[in-house]
Amino acid sequence: MTSLWLDRKTEFPSDEFMPGKTYDTVVAGAGLTGLVTALLLARSGQNVLVLEARHPAAVTTGNTTAKVTLLQGTVLSQLSRQYSPRVVNAYVEMNREGQSWLLRYLDSNNLPYQRRTAYTYATTPEGAEKVRMEFTAATSAGLDVDYVRTAGLPFHVSGAVSLADQAQINPLDVIETLLRDVKSHGGTIVGNARVTGASGSDPVTVETSLGAVKAKSVVLATGTPILDRGMYFAKLKPQRSYAAALEMPGSMQVPEGMYLSVEQPTRSLRDYPVDGAGKPLLLVGGSGHAVGKADSEQAHLDDLLNWAQTHFPGARPTHTWSAQDYQAINLMPFFGKLPRGHGDIFFATGYNKWGMTNSVGASIGISADILGGQIPWADTIHRRISAPPAAASAVGLNAGVAATLAKDWGKLLKHPTADAAPMEGTGVVTRSGMQPVATSTVNGKTCAVSGRCTHLGGILHWNDAEKTWDCPLHGSRFTPEGQNLEGPATTPLAKVPESGQGS
Ligand SMILES: Cc1cc2nc3c(=O)[nH]c(=O)nc-3n(C[C@H](O)[C@H](O)[C@H](O)COP(=O)(O)OP(=O)(O)OC[C@H]3O[C@@H](n4cnc5c(N)ncnc54)[C@H](O)[C@@H]3O)c2cc1C
Ligand code: FES
Repeated sequence: MTSLWLDRKTEFPSDEFMPGKTYDTVVAGAGLTGLVTALLLARSGQNVLVLEARHPAAVTTGNTTAKVTLLQGTVLSQLSRQYSPRVVNAYVEMNREGQSWLLRYLDSNNLPYQRRTAYTYATTPEGAEKVRMEFTAATSAGLDVDYVRTAGLPFHVSGAVSLADQAQINPLDVIETLLRDVKSHGGTIVGNARVTGASGSDPVTVETSLGAVKAKSVVLATGTPILDRGMYFAKLKPQRSYAAALEMPGSMQVPEGMYLSVEQPTRSLRDYPVDGAGKPLLLVGGSGHAVGKADSEQAHLDDLLNWAQTHFPGARPTHTWSAQDYQAINLMPFFGKLPRGHGDIFFATGYNKWGMTNSVGASIGISADILGGQIPWADTIHRRISAPPAAASAVGLNAGVAATLAKDWGKLLKHPTADAAPMEGTGVVTRSGMQPVATSTVNGKTCAVSGRCTHLGGILHWNDAEKTWDCPLHGSRFTPEGQNLEGPATTPLAKVPESGQGS
């Protein structure tokens, strides 16, 4: 599946990797977080190296729905239940600064984007209550929201909160411009370079799939952090969800706002004006679930497409895709210094599907830390990160992780060993002695790899929509051949020789 954004020819001449060279800062990851951080540092005169495991925007940034908004579903009412108004205001400030920076960047580079009213809408009386709570929380946080009874959608809405003058973008326009800009400020960007470790301090030695380099500072902009220091993988819930772009039939119009439902499964809508003549496309998103825990990912995508057909009959999908983002257990993004990183290693994660603004905010915060600046909203959020309630929620999340691992092993012990290649498009985890073996057949090719995630040993799950192996513990994903796609794992799955299948 290829997203609407990634379905274009992107020029990305990778720079040469220079083993042993020392940089001011090495940034791991060329999504929005990594490239904005790299640009801010390069603009201030730093010698910056960006290392990207795949290609720029390969993971969440290239598969987002790209609403750039301060009205974020019911985030503010949820935060208000956990934090003081001061902390909630700091979150809004971080996002406001991220949004302003990004839109100024688009303006100054003559990149197109659209101003739209954002809506959080409900279709049930219970949902309308949540909408009212969001209205109250957003008003308290200083957002100029309205409570409205209609939202311009072709179905019944029982209430909505709206915020005018928000924006939607094409993330690849931004990524391509950032790549050029980082290079024009002296930065180096290397693709197919996976960071596998970082050790020492002043300078840090950064190990990669291409060799080692040194840096005064390292920024992990890898979605979820790839180093286990700080155990952030245990404080994040990886959530996968689905999206589609649809052509409208006949005279059917695309709704003119950006929308997110409060009911589950969530439904997200926005438009995308196609270049030149022609009607805008409708983008729909939602039907999410925890990574590696759906019975069938394809069924989630089908559910989203069926919902779109019900409300926009005759709409024709041009692209379908899926992606994942990480929800922090305490709902507040994590960014700043990585614990036990000697003050030299920085990270950002936990944007909870609101990374278009949070990532830029986090990049501003991290670059200020590296360059010696101080930002009041960042200080307020940093102090919150070490507060005790997060530890309590982490215990709950990790009890769930342990239960998933135990359940998956239990299933495996009962599972018959494979005696035939799986049917086309399917994958199965069986046992060879006590070793889980993940066997799949895709495009006629049968592959057998270790069925144990290389991060911390989760039993892998076949994703029937993307045709990948997904880990239900912390969200690592692998190709059928065992190559890393995303998540905290940094090493591929071991190949299993054909004779090793079954026992
Ligand atoms: C379906 C969906 C819809 C969304 N819609 C919205 C929206 O409308 N509005 C909004 O604000 N947010 C939205 N988000 C969230 C937003 O898209 C993300 O939070 C944001 O793109 C994250 O950017 P990032 O740079 O941190 O991560 P990524 O874009 O994932 O970038 C991380 C990069 O690091 C690279 N990498 C990983 N490991 C290594 C390694 N070991 N070495 C080197 N490189 C590595 C990856 O290949 C990747 O390119 C959505 C998310 C999803 C899943
Ligand atoms: S991602 Fe942690 S065990 Fe798989």
